[in-house]
Amino acid sequence: MVILGIESSCDETACAVVKDGTQVLSNVVYSQISLHQPWGGVVPEIASRAHVEKISGVISAAVDEAVKGGEIKGLSDVDAIAVTYGPGLVPALLVGLSAAKGLALSLGVPIIGINHIEAHLHTPFLESAAEPERYMPALGLAVSGGHTSWIDMPEYGSYRIIGQTLDDAAGEAFDKAAKLLGLGYPGGPVIDREARKYEGSDFIRFPKGRPRPGTAALAGLDAELCTSFSGLKTSLLNYVRSVRGADGAIPEIPRICASYQRAIVASIADRTATALKRRRYRSLIVGGGVSLNGALREALANVAENAMVDLLLSKPKYCGDNAAMIAGLAYYRRNVIGDAAFAADVSPSLEAGD
Ligand code: KG4
Ligand code: ZN
Repeated sequence: MVILGIESSCDETACAVVKDGTQVLSNVVYSQISLHQPWGGVVPEIASRAHVEKISGVISAAVDEAVKGGEIKGLSDVDAIAVTYGPGLVPALLVGLSAAKGLALSLGVPIIGINHIEAHLHTPFLESAAEPERYMPALGLAVSGGHTSWIDMPEYGSYRIIGQTLDDAAGEAFDKAAKLLGLGYPGGPVIDREARKYEGSDFIRFPKGRPRPGTAALAGLDAELCTSFSGLKTSLLNYVRSVRGADGAIPEIPRICASYQRAIVASIADRTATALKRRRYRSLIVGGGVSLNGALREALANVAENAMVDLLLSKPKYCGDNAAMIAGLAYYRRNVIGDAAFAADVSPSLEAGD
């Protein structure tokens, strides 16, 4: 079954054609990073305008690429359209959803609405022979610019959030720190790069992302499985103020980045290790842009080894937002799980499991 997927929830306009859930025939991503860079973060109005401008070209490019590969002859070989309905920026989501509806209607094929976070957890299965069901029950970890969530997956297609950040997501914590340090946007890759330059072991002591007592319970969550990165950000701000020179220059950027990254990685690794003790899992499935982080990948490998579970990470090209994960998951939603909701509208805040 050939599914064309569309993703436009944030600042990537993406389209992909995927066969049978894992065979990626094309994967086109137009990144808007350069448009948002001057603002130090994603501006929803700029994002939705850029989606409108780019979406047709991105869809055509994805179809052309799939045709070149010889697996399909054209759009008429597409069996269904998959699209992200949430969570994300509403004006941005609407662009993808409208394009998907138009395409599905004109081709006379079904449309499948996909949850973006759930799709991030499908990425390790792209271009892989691994059968998702064989890795269940799994602990899912979604770490991106908008989310840091621990998800209990008793079987493929069934999700329950058991922990999450109570304020900033991990990616957001990286992005805000980079802005504060004058390192540009997005922050994750540049902090990762700067941190590698530090070869010492004299790390600055930053808080390890523990939520304030009582705050997790208010959200109906277990504090042991939650993070809070807002205190970490304030602590970085205070540190920078204390060391900034008269000329405004910040000394020891690599050491600051390594210490800050270490605090984020330690807190994610710690909550993951705790979650893995909560039931007998077979695997730890990780997805999202922050899973590109070298130190995090290493820490999670240790956590998985100690818990004796398989670690499933995605290929770097599928860590960030893309549409292959949307089209891939749609196949399982429709053919394996037997649930393919028609996405009649977008949803800015739907979490996995809703
Ligand atoms: O999954 P993604 O592309 O978009 C969302 O769904 O949010 O994730 C983007 C986030 C950004 O916050 C970015 O700074 C972060 O992923 N990121 C990283 C790295 N590469 C991207 N964070 C840490 N280390 C990296 N190497
Ligand atoms: Zn994402």
